[in-house]
Amino acid sequence: MCGIVAYVGHREASPIIIKGLKRLEYRGYDSAGIALMNGKLNIYKKKGKVAELEAFIATQDTHSSIGMGHTRWATHGEPNDENAHPHYSTSGNIAIIHNGIIENYASLKKLLMEKGHTFKSETDSEVFINLIEDIRTNNNCTLPEAVRLAMHEVVGAYAIVVLSQDSPNQLIAARKGSPLVVGIGEGEYFLASDATPIIEYTNEVVYLNDFELAIINNGQLDIRTKEDVQQTPYVQKLEMELESIEKGGYEHFMLKEIFEQPRSILDSMRGRMIAESDHLMMAGIREFENKFVNANRIIIVACGTSWHAGLVAEYLIEDLARIPVEVEYASEFRYRNPILNERDIVIAISQSGETADTLAALELAKSKGATIFGICNVVGSSIARATDAGAYTHAGPEIGVASTKAFTAQVTVLTLIAMIIGSKRGTLETTKLRELMVELETIPSKVEEALQLNEQIVQISEQYKDATNFLYLGRGYNFPVALEGALKLKEISYIHAEGYPAAEMKHGPIALIDEQMPVVVIATKDSSYEKIVSNVQEVKARKGKVIAVVTEGDTTIPAMADHVIEIPETSEHLMPLLSVIPLQLLSYHIAVMRGCNVDQPRNLAKSVTVE
Ligand code: G6P
Repeated sequence: MCGIVAYVGHREASPIIIKGLKRLEYRGYDSAGIALMNGKLNIYKKKGKVAELEAFIATQDTHSSIGMGHTRWATHGEPNDENAHPHYSTSGNIAIIHNGIIENYASLKKLLMEKGHTFKSETDSEVFINLIEDIRTNNNCTLPEAVRLAMHEVVGAYAIVVLSQDSPNQLIAARKGSPLVVGIGEGEYFLASDATPIIEYTNEVVYLNDFELAIINNGQLDIRTKEDVQQTPYVQKLEMELESIEKGGYEHFMLKEIFEQPRSILDSMRGRMIAESDHLMMAGIREFENKFVNANRIIIVACGTSWHAGLVAEYLIEDLARIPVEVEYASEFRYRNPILNERDIVIAISQSGETADTLAALELAKSKGATIFGICNVVGSSIARATDAGAYTHAGPEIGVASTKAFTAQVTVLTLIAMIIGSKRGTLETTKLRELMVELETIPSKVEEALQLNEQIVQISEQYKDATNFLYLGRGYNFPVALEGALKLKEISYIHAEGYPAAEMKHGPIALIDEQMPVVVIATKDSSYEKIVSNVQEVKARKGKVIAVVTEGDTTIPAMADHVIEIPETSEHLMPLLSVIPLQLLSYHIAVMRGCNVDQPRNLAKSVTVE
């Protein structure tokens, strides 16, 4: 995790870096720092949010047209001023910012200490900069050369930027496993963990590949591999718009993103489906159509909310395309020697496209000969680039740490995939396919209707904001939604919440139910409706408080529940796209009422680039 930004050019560096760090705060926000070349190589750093660093440097002389900054999510060493980045080398002549984890830092540190290097922090990053300094002194080489050689010594993940007192116009960056983008302006360069700090200055970017280093010196960009082979930079044009990364009048990014869903779902379907003309096509699938049609098995790997989208896909693909699906936590899959072959397709789902475990899982699957398909939101991200084929979700930048619009965009894309494969395999009849296509086209406007529930959900939130536990129940397609609802609540309001398949409740969670326990039941009209009616009765018999999400016009569950949230009717295959909306709003309002920092919940980060 952690966010990094650097600048060299003709403007003042510090305002660009501070603004960029604020955009990257979703990656970590426990401390922040900046290094500038004002007379000498100076570092300013502070525990806490970027705003605290900003206030601190407001009293300093920050005049410099080169610099680098960091916002941290602690891995090695608690969040404090010392452990904040940047870090000096022992001599103080060079400094580093680092995103990632150096796994062999302990052995390297021991060696470096024996050679006389001293350390002020507990971080692995300080080891990296001392290693660079050591190599430079021992080999009497240039700094870029020392960075390149150090890349051969470190094991783990990194995106780094190095600044040196002796070369005041030079930035050196390198990556392996953690993202790094180079922005190319007129007579100026930017480096950042993603494109959001860069977009208002230039839309020309180069995504650095693993084991590459970028040397920006006196207005020139030189990219080399760690084997010292010069690369021709592949310059891409960004399509992101500045408005999409700002709050646009909403109090929080999360609320803005919840309300963007009619649009982001539509954007995820755009060009891929037009019901009227029977158009259903996805470029990434077309290329690998035969593989999909003849697949033995589909394995979905993901983490967090993306894993929940994968669970929805399990229902969809098995039901519509009749291919067995397994949904795996990427972090477990990668370490358990899975059995895979060329007829398996592995789908990696990731909003950021940078989640370390998901990336490692797909690399493992690739090494075993499976076809790898990616579903990512961030264009040009590591996972998107590591896959054989894929489909972007087109949800636009998601900044709130709790994922909302990325989830519905993922489910939309997965629905299209299930429909395409089902129709190619002949397991989904044409009439049923047409019905689903027509229905899917109505989803954005039905989401719009579901969003009108906002005021009602504010009132329900008011009653339950002080609860200490929540249970979420759902069956079938709504079971993953129950998990997602519970995850949203615990992530941002710090209330303990569990999601359960409603029928499993009697094997444990039912023991928790008493008159204090709010139970959110997703009980829409579908094939398991009758069953879930019984589950609601079981909760009521134990005096639990039922907040039921039901289909408009239902009268049975409203007669039993304490609170009823009515959402529009749709096919059960598409229901997660609607039933998740009130749960997102419920967690949002409860978190706001509890005074929590909704967009930056404690201990979490949006992009988990460490395993
Ligand atoms: C973190 C985020 C979650 C996200 C998960 C997977 O935990 O806070 O919102 O669902 O990572 O991230 P990915 O980018 O791979 O979807």
